Amino acid sequence: MDAARRIEGFAGAIVTGASSGLGEAIVKKIRELKANLPILSISRSEPVLHIPEFTLKHVSCDLSNQARIISCFPEVKGFVEGLEENGKLLLVNNSGIGAYGEFPEDEFAKLGAMIDLNVRGVVHLTFLMMPLLKARGGAIVNVSSLAAFQATPYLSVYGATKAFLLHWSLSLREELRPSGVTVLAACPGPVRTNFFRAAGFKRRLDNVSGRNPDEVASAVLQACFKGRAIMTFGFRDWLLAAWASRLPKTWSSRLSGAALRRLRLDRFKEGPDKDET
Ligand SMILES: NC(=O)c1ccc[n+]([C@@H]2O[C@H](COP(=O)([O-])OP(=O)(O)OC[C@H]3O[C@@H](n4cnc5c(N)ncnc54)[C@H](OP(=O)(O)O)[C@@H]3O)[C@@H](O)[C@H]2O)c1
Repeated sequence: MDAARRIEGFAGAIVTGASSGLGEAIVKKIRELKANLPILSISRSEPVLHIPEFTLKHVSCDLSNQARIISCFPEVKGFVEGLEENGKLLLVNNSGIGAYGEFPEDEFAKLGAMIDLNVRGVVHLTFLMMPLLKARGGAIVNVSSLAAFQATPYLSVYGATKAFLLHWSLSLREELRPSGVTVLAACPGPVRTNFFRAAGFKRRLDNVSGRNPDEVASAVLQACFKGRAIMTFGFRDWLLAAWASRLPKTWSSRLSGAALRRLRLDRFKEGPDKDET
């Protein structure tokens, strides 16, 4: 059964971080699959998507802030309660940020906010959503990363947050097996979004090293509706994940450190001129 048929059983979707990049592409893909599916976006800024208000609603929330999550949750619950009674629910935990550099080059505030958003915010929102998800059945997608399969020197805190999401998703999936709620850890490699700029990389991804967000979004939803546990995008990423998972952890971290350090040296060598290439 393809994604367009499987999404028919869903009454609504909640997507965090739909104001740009992969989250925006996921919302667009959901709309392609089922144009009238009500979607709730949660992020600090509102998506600019030109979608009728009755199908896309927005809750403004800083998901790195525990108090804000608690205070915005009644709106989220209200959205779910307003959905068609018997349909399933899709929760896509996509909001996330990264930070590239040698520890502790970044201010702690940035690293702390990253842990709060990428880890605590995801667990917190899912915790609050769980009774609603169990009551209807449905699917949770946690957007992890290819960085989750090995240690990532120079992206050390980011990679660890994504490894947390991968392991937590797999555990949650097993616990939820009898409940009719599936859990997918989406683990894409580099995607052409604002992420790299925001994480402190100076170079943009080229078309070869960065995947198209629309294609990744499509693969994420296909994997979700097929009930997959882990999604990687394309053969190259699958091979890298399989290879990193099988190597002794000290070897894979040494190799990924060498690759990521080279990126860093390039940055200093090439300087800001490379910014706009
Ligand atoms: N791009 C890649 O290469 C790549 C690869 C693997 C995995 N990922 C993961 O994919 C996810 C989406 O990233 P992206 O590539 O699409 O980057 P992006 O374009 O920078 O989007 C990040 C999204 O997260 C939201 N966000 C950031 N801080 C937030 C906060 N405090 N509260 C609520 N929402 C917040 C942003 O919305 P606001 O600023 O409006 O709040 C934005 O919509 C992330 O989890 C990232 O780790 C990305």
